[in-house]
Amino acid sequence: MLSNTTSLQISALGSSSIDFSPTPQFSRPTYLMCPPQWYDVDYVINPWMAGNLHRPSRDVAFSQWKELYRALQLVADVRLLHARQGAPDMVFVAHTALVHHGIAAISSFAHTERQPEEEHVREWLQDHGFLVWDTPRETAFEGEGDILFDAEGKRLWAAHGSRTCLQSHRHVADAWHTPVTSLHLVDPRFYHLDTCFAPLAGGYLLYFAGAFDACSIEKIEAAYPASKRIAVTEAEATQFACNVLNVGRTIMMSKVNSNLRDRLSGLGFDVVELALSEFLRGGASAKSLALRLSDTSVTHANGEA
Ligand code: ARG
Repeated sequence: MLSNTTSLQISALGSSSIDFSPTPQFSRPTYLMCPPQWYDVDYVINPWMAGNLHRPSRDVAFSQWKELYRALQLVADVRLLHARQGAPDMVFVAHTALVHHGIAAISSFAHTERQPEEEHVREWLQDHGFLVWDTPRETAFEGEGDILFDAEGKRLWAAHGSRTCLQSHRHVADAWHTPVTSLHLVDPRFYHLDTCFAPLAGGYLLYFAGAFDACSIEKIEAAYPASKRIAVTEAEATQFACNVLNVGRTIMMSKVNSNLRDRLSGLGFDVVELALSEFLRGGASAKSLALRLSDTSVTHANGEA
């Protein structure tokens, strides 16, 4: 299901060569963001949105989003995707795809409310030379929300139990022929993998164990030695402590009321705390607001403590 309408050129029948234009490769950390022009809580598709219908202030959301944009621009190149009316969650662009080696697996959202976002991100990625890998509608897949590469970009961690289907895991991993480990989410508050699991530079993992079943915890502990696991408490996790954006040694996250910042600083990370209250009302924080376009080996470079 790979398609790329703009950069794939197949020469006329009978001529000698097929010319594949190179897919984009980035030597600097690069992300895609989408401004909150039409952002609102218009419907309830996760427990955080309940009670927050139409409560976010768009002005405050814009200034908070700009702070994150500026912070990210200090350590990465940031591209922009136009927001579209009728797609109020499009600001959470990280859920629309998973990108690696210039290949973009496009999401197939579980909820109809978010499905209009798919064509906008597909169009942008195709126009910018990415090879597109589609997922069938029947097997939901929600991009970086639920499937994440480890820091080396060699293995995928994929969640099911809430939005993304178990059946989509192998299909998505086939876009890069990588091994994939499935994890089962069991707490409705942590409905996406990126709300409770964040592979970090330096081989660290920031995670909330209470979001997973016992078998998943075994898989996590087998892959990450205790010295590399940064476990957060339930109180921290419910402040979106795991929904962090990590570029090299820099971690951008919303303020968490605990000593987590000191723990991360102690491991050599530079923590940038941001006010992201309006996005928390929609059920997301820093990580969900930017889609990684450069490989993890680039975005996680120089992250050794
Ligand atoms: N309202 C969006 C949704 O429910 C927000 C998604 C936030 N996701 C997250 N991983 N934090 O789809």
